[in-house]
Amino acid sequence: MAILEVRKYPDDVLRQKSGPVEKDDKGLQLLIDDMIETMHASFGIGLAAPQVGVHKRLIVVDISHYDEERDLLVLINPEIGLAEELVDSEEGCLSVPEFTAHIKRAGRVVVKGLDRDGNSIEIEATGILARALQHEIDHLDGVLIIDRMSAIKREFFEKRHQKALKEAKD
Ligand code: NI
Repeated sequence: MAILEVRKYPDDVLRQKSGPVEKDDKGLQLLIDDMIETMHASFGIGLAAPQVGVHKRLIVVDISHYDEERDLLVLINPEIGLAEELVDSEEGCLSVPEFTAHIKRAGRVVVKGLDRDGNSIEIEATGILARALQHEIDHLDGVLIIDRMSAIKREFFEKRHQKALKEAKD
């Protein structure tokens, strides 16, 4: 297993839409293990394959730190079925470090997909798990928290980002 490099904004890799995982994907199990190790090493609660430069519809989520009844989740080709209630909550992302924003998301979702052995699974989630799942699935479509924050907050983010780039150059 290995800790992979987590790609950071504004890396173009984060903006590409990912394709479905194929049945005979030989590197899949290793990729899953590496993503889990990378997520834990980064103290993240979720990670999507494009964040490590792989454009496959694969996410890992681990909220056991917040809710010990929830096990580590590996979801292949996840799809959001039901999404209801709009909740505003603070959110961060390993690809947008040192930044959080309030983002509106569904408070309850049902997500369908495959587990790492290819079995169909369906997850009903609320709270932080619902939020993490929607966040990671966004990554599969090239969507970042920056796209979901308010215009004012986004402007603030862009200014701060430009300033940081300039400081890095000086
Ligand atoms: Ni993220």
